[in-house]
Amino acid sequence: MPADPALVDRLAQFGQDHVLRFWDELDPEGRNRLIGQLERLDLPRLAQMIDRLVLSPSKEEALAIDPQQVEPVDVRRVPQTDSERVIRRRAAERGEAALAAGEVAAVLVAGGQGTRLGFDAPKGTYPIGPVSGASLFQMHAEKLVALGRRFGKPIPLYIMTSPENHEATTSFFAQHQQFGLDHVRFFVQGQLPAVDAASGKLLLAAKDSLALSPDGHGGTITALAARDHPDQASCLDDMSDRGIQTLFYFQVDNPLVQICDPAYLGLHLMAEADISFKVVEKQRPEEKVGVVVQVDGHAQVIEYSDLPTELAERREPDGGLQLWAGSIAIHCFDRAFLERLVSGGGQLPVHRALKKVPHLGDSGRRVEPEGPNAVKFETFIFDALPLADRWSIVETERAIEFEPLKNATGPDSPATVRQRLSDLFGDWLEQAGAQVLRRGDGSVPFGIEISPLFALDAAELKQKIEPGLVVDRPIVLGP
Ligand code: UD1
Repeated sequence: MPADPALVDRLAQFGQDHVLRFWDELDPEGRNRLIGQLERLDLPRLAQMIDRLVLSPSKEEALAIDPQQVEPVDVRRVPQTDSERVIRRRAAERGEAALAAGEVAAVLVAGGQGTRLGFDAPKGTYPIGPVSGASLFQMHAEKLVALGRRFGKPIPLYIMTSPENHEATTSFFAQHQQFGLDHVRFFVQGQLPAVDAASGKLLLAAKDSLALSPDGHGGTITALAARDHPDQASCLDDMSDRGIQTLFYFQVDNPLVQICDPAYLGLHLMAEADISFKVVEKQRPEEKVGVVVQVDGHAQVIEYSDLPTELAERREPDGGLQLWAGSIAIHCFDRAFLERLVSGGGQLPVHRALKKVPHLGDSGRRVEPEGPNAVKFETFIFDALPLADRWSIVETERAIEFEPLKNATGPDSPATVRQRLSDLFGDWLEQAGAQVLRRGDGSVPFGIEISPLFALDAAELKQKIEPGLVVDRPIVLGP
């Protein structure tokens, strides 16, 4: 059976009909797979992306930001004075009230490919607990279970996966009885095709499949609004039915994240913000975090890969970095803001990434390129910031809230993350009255782990341990 002539015409109109060149060799299942993928493509939009980001990227560069217009953004800094501490306390009360009223949901993005870590499974399943080997997913889920108990209302969790890791992620949760969560819902992010970097032609991963990759965490917004079946509510509708007003958004890779931090939620609510960002002071100009800046009176993020060195290195008279506000990808969203974005069709801008993408050559043989050969397209959630009318940017301390797992070795690797967790839990134990053995540089020389189900913070820990406890060897405090 030949391919549907209307589809062939449409593809030909956009110069992409070569993707059907193995049609005659495909079985019905393969044909259906390929047709399904092709029908989901927005060809006119794809043609624009190819023109702007692949064939004439110089146009894109011409649109780049003028460094003279980039200024630091207003940030609510870590409190230093009593009055600043009072504001944080009031904000925490406001956030606690929202949690107790069941108005907050958590959204965990876990659809990434984790290429840099070199771990061949969903990153959330990585065993990161310094002693128990608890997974990232377990740590996040147990924080939510503990928070639900503390505030008397379960916090629903929505987890974004990608087609590649959906099955493995949902089975991991099923194997662990959803880690005791009351409500967890998985939703799958979209995909975008990779194209040849020289010609802009779609690449095939197999005779019956395009080379597709996740559409970036900017895809969270459309995926939250999508329905898997016509009779199923979208995640946003489900949240609305549950009375959720605020979404707490976080990435899978940072086990220190203070999920649903009441003070942060409260500052977001008090500012009546559409979107909030948590930031830390960047350690060095080349640190791989996006920076929150202000351009023309509006806040926005410049991703580390797009930040010109001149801007990254710009310093204040006291020697500090001028653009210091590093985004740690922890956000609050007003649900109504996301709904407005979706109904306004407000698509986030698409970014390009030059990557090595294996594909099928004209003869049908697999090509393993030696260097980057293809452009992948991605959207970023932080590009929603310039679309917001009101925003709130809040500083937090790196030592207590940010140590992401990104690399197999070196910085942001399993070794640094486990050490940071042990040091932090050592601090909690000391604040709770214990004595903890330390190295000369202050770090803890063995693993310490405190399950969120045992204590969520030092204050809770203090009620649970014997005063005078001495910790001089690996320890796990669990439920
Ligand atoms: C990201 C941010 C960076 C921020 C840093 C903080 C981007 C582009 N940049 O950098 O500004 O300072 O984190 O740690 O995100 N994900 C999906 N689907 C995707 C792509 C990613 O769910 O299609 C998820 C990943 O599972 C992960 C998170 O998004 O949880 C971050 O992705 P990653 O590619 O690791 O971002 P970074 O380059 O580390």
